Amino acid sequence: MPLSKSQTPEHHDIPQDVDGLLRLAAQSMFDVLARSTEGMMVVDRHHRVVWISEGYKRFLPALGFADEHEFVGKRVEDVVPNTQMLQVLETGKPVLVDLLTNKAGTFLVSRLPLRNDAGEVIGALGLVLLDHPETTMQPLITKFARLQQELEDTRRQLAAQRRPKYTIASFIGASPAALEVKRQARRVAQTDSTVLLLGETGTGKELMAHAIHAASRRAHRPLVGVNIAAVPETLLEAEFFGVAPGAYTGADRKGRDGKFKLADGGTLFLDEIGDMPLALQSKLLRVLQEQEVEPLGSNTVLRVDVRVIAATSRDLAAMVAAGTFRADLYYRLNVLPIRVPALRERLDDIEALAEALGEDIARRSGMPQKLLSPDAIEWLMQQPWPGNIRELRNTLEQVSLMSDDMQLTAASFQGGSAGPATVAVVARAPQPVAPVVATAQAVAPLPELIEALERDAIARALQATGGNRMAAARLLQISRASLYERLARWPEIERTSEA
Ligand SMILES: Nc1ncnc2c1ncn2[C@@H]1O[C@H](COP(=O)(O)OP(=O)(O)OP(=O)(O)O)[C@@H](O)[C@H]1O
Ligand SMILES: [Mg+2]
Repeated sequence: MPLSKSQTPEHHDIPQDVDGLLRLAAQSMFDVLARSTEGMMVVDRHHRVVWISEGYKRFLPALGFADEHEFVGKRVEDVVPNTQMLQVLETGKPVLVDLLTNKAGTFLVSRLPLRNDAGEVIGALGLVLLDHPETTMQPLITKFARLQQELEDTRRQLAAQRRPKYTIASFIGASPAALEVKRQARRVAQTDSTVLLLGETGTGKELMAHAIHAASRRAHRPLVGVNIAAVPETLLEAEFFGVAPGAYTGADRKGRDGKFKLADGGTLFLDEIGDMPLALQSKLLRVLQEQEVEPLGSNTVLRVDVRVIAATSRDLAAMVAAGTFRADLYYRLNVLPIRVPALRERLDDIEALAEALGEDIARRSGMPQKLLSPDAIEWLMQQPWPGNIRELRNTLEQVSLMSDDMQLTAASFQGGSAGPATVAVVARAPQPVAPVVATAQAVAPLPELIEALERDAIARALQATGGNRMAAARLLQISRASLYERLARWPEIERTSEA
């Protein structure tokens, strides 16, 4: 026990009894603390300051007192703003380290209860361990402030992520077809059943899936999406069900949670369900029925609580008839089907949609929103829109960016030979390939002509679908794989069709 020099007793002064020794130790500690801390005070059980150390006197002017006699004898809460000594008197519990800030500055303080022999709190001891801790403890305080800032940022990000991206109200449209689909969405949102969203490409199926989740009781839980068409077939099973630790060597050695597990308590959005390989369809059916998944390489099952929303632009019933989609899975998914209408079925919504899309385009591009003249609206309403709202959006975006005028007219959409005009021409022409063959006057080797024809057809399909490869493959009636293969061969196609 470190005793200060003046206190060190001569050998023969050391009391032989333990109580006496402890008393001496307590006395010595008190003296050491009084001298080595920046300041010390004692208050009695009636909150009155009964004593302050020499060091403490330094703080009196900043607290508004000329000398000790104005301070001692007063109630501590009347002379030390923000003091917490009363809590120690009330609870009898020490506060070993705290920051106290008042008009005299910021201090690192300790507060200890004082007890009598019966154990009752008879007062409290206040210690100022450091004054201006903001300078002496700068590194610690900076770190603390930074961590607190990071925590705050993370909380805000999390809240933003959890906030639903879309609600049912963000599905724009007041036409009978739009109102009906929104009514159905609200109704299924109340249930926990599987939902099947059907509809052409670009009609808003994904938006609707988000909206249904956001309106359901699972809204505060995750919405996890899998685009089945985008995941290589060999990886799909692991993606869905996860991999048990040790099942594989390498990157997956530690195991990995599947999407079902990640969506537990929430919603799993199975996009392009029509692209589900047959072999996996029966496994998916089992999970939907049992609400249990078995990770790859594991022999135990995990219970999950997942609501599934599936979407496809393919004709599942026809696929069932053709034997490429399992009938039992189809019936299981088809409990609550919702058909999202094509844009041409709700032409009355075009104006409101163009307005909302224009606002979004302006916000994202940082440019002012362009107005649409009545004849522009009329022109938009006359187009067939095979790529639906996605195509409408792309057309508006291209024309807004290319025109310097503040108002877009029908002529802005028709004018020029490049970009959106091509889209419109393609959209209206039932055989988009015709012009290429007609203009190829020069005799050329057949393979070159065929290649030109293919490239042209793919570019047009991509434009019509707003760059959606799946949808383009469908329009062209070729497989996804053969489209990808051609795009790999002619990567410039996508760049030109994006322009
Ligand atoms: N009713 C709507 N109101 C506003 N924006 C919409 C609406 N429907 C669709 N959109 C927008 O159109 C685009 C295409 O929608 P989405 O991706 O949901 O279509 P999809 O049906 O999933 O298409 P695909 O079958 O090609 O995947 C998105 O940018 C979406 O925000
Ligand atoms: Mg989609």
